[in-house]
Amino acid sequence: MSNEHKITMLGTGLIGMFYTKTLHDQRGRDRVHLIYSRNEEKAKQFAKEWGIPGWTSDMAEAINDPDTDVVVIGLPNNLHKQAVLMVAKAGKTVLCTKPLGRNAAEAKEMLDAVEKAGIFSGYLEDLVYPPKTLKALESVKNGTLGKILWVRSRETHGGPHSDWFWDIEQAGGGAIIDMGCHCIEIIRNFIGKDVKPLEVMCWADTQVHPIEAEDHGIGLIRFENGAIGQFEASWTFRGGMDIRDEVAGTEGTIWLNHFLRTGFEMFTAIAKGGYVAEKTESDTGWLFPVGDEVHELGYTTMFADMFNALDNNKAPMESFYDGYVVNAIIDACYRSAKSKHWESVDLKEWRGEIKVVETSISATDPDEKYILIKKELMPDGRTKLILKEKKSGKIIQKVNPSKTK
Ligand SMILES: NC(=O)c1ccc[n+]([C@@H]2O[C@H](COP(=O)([O-])OP(=O)(O)OC[C@H]3O[C@@H](n4cnc5c(N)ncnc54)[C@H](O)[C@@H]3O)[C@@H](O)[C@H]2O)c1
Repeated sequence: MSNEHKITMLGTGLIGMFYTKTLHDQRGRDRVHLIYSRNEEKAKQFAKEWGIPGWTSDMAEAINDPDTDVVVIGLPNNLHKQAVLMVAKAGKTVLCTKPLGRNAAEAKEMLDAVEKAGIFSGYLEDLVYPPKTLKALESVKNGTLGKILWVRSRETHGGPHSDWFWDIEQAGGGAIIDMGCHCIEIIRNFIGKDVKPLEVMCWADTQVHPIEAEDHGIGLIRFENGAIGQFEASWTFRGGMDIRDEVAGTEGTIWLNHFLRTGFEMFTAIAKGGYVAEKTESDTGWLFPVGDEVHELGYTTMFADMFNALDNNKAPMESFYDGYVVNAIIDACYRSAKSKHWESVDLKEWRGEIKVVETSISATDPDEKYILIKKELMPDGRTKLILKEKKSGKIIQKVNPSKTK
């Protein structure tokens, strides 16, 4: 089944623009038909630019509009809860940008509200939807990489574009809540969303900007099956926006590069203006444009998943529950950055596996005398075996005389 949806977009800032561009550029059925901005002039101007028939500076009017069936929230973090609760009351579909809340308590309230109202909701975490990430996830799910041991996800740039991000009260934190939330959900997807995050160790500091929140944070997340997630989020990085993921398994590795090095490199000696890519710092010299940014960052596939799920009465890939888990991990990060200790992830409700047994290190026995630690292919084609003698525990190496390739 495929319906045509009438969307109210809340917010005319960067994400309101990216979301509208995604929905309107592809000649899709689902269109923004009402835009809300607290500033009337801005709402009017945005409506004109994107061919939106209605505009308003009244949020309640925007949500309760009788023609609207889907509300997309693209407002600053401190307004997510208020907007979600209003949509739940109106009984409409709600799609909310990241982070879901400023903390897990807010996110839980939002989760409870949509579930109580029985409405469809989706967490707009675009960075698990880039086409290459979806393909990488498919490989991980079918076991191509073996057991996932370590996922590293990084998002860094020179700092956000609007005032409210820099205010700890409105944003709920700094670089970790803003960008670490992407990395954490990417990590969860690769390790398995059914695997419980147990505890975190996090460093956070304010290295450059005169603000209360952190402008740089690095964290480790330990999962119940022994896997480790590592995120790096920074507002101090120079040279544009760096978004990279690395997945390491027992049988393979994946590296993903979403920005700066995407295979499109351009040099220009003259500044002619024009858009290069989000957070680019320069318009001369070597530039790294991104072809179709909304597609390469996952917005297109994200909205397709959300609307397909809505029409087919299925759960989307990213739910409010996922947003809540991300917030709970971030809360633990902030506690750890203060205490300088591992802090447990406090999940009021866990919907994944109850107990994932940590898989023990598998010992391969080449014969009854030895346990195989590592097999290595040598430059001359022979194989070297690193072995542990079972009886003595002594570690030795043996080179097979014949070439095995
Ligand atoms: N990749 C992503 O998913 C992504 C990227 C950027 C931003 N975001 C998220 O989108 C949200 C908005 O970020 P943005 O980059 O669009 O910010 P922005 O500053 O560019 O836009 C924010 C919008 O909210 C409006 N606004 C600000 N204060 C308001 C208030 N008190 N009442 C009503 N409206 C108000 C502004 O006028 C503007 O239209 C944030 O939650 C942010 O984390 C997500």
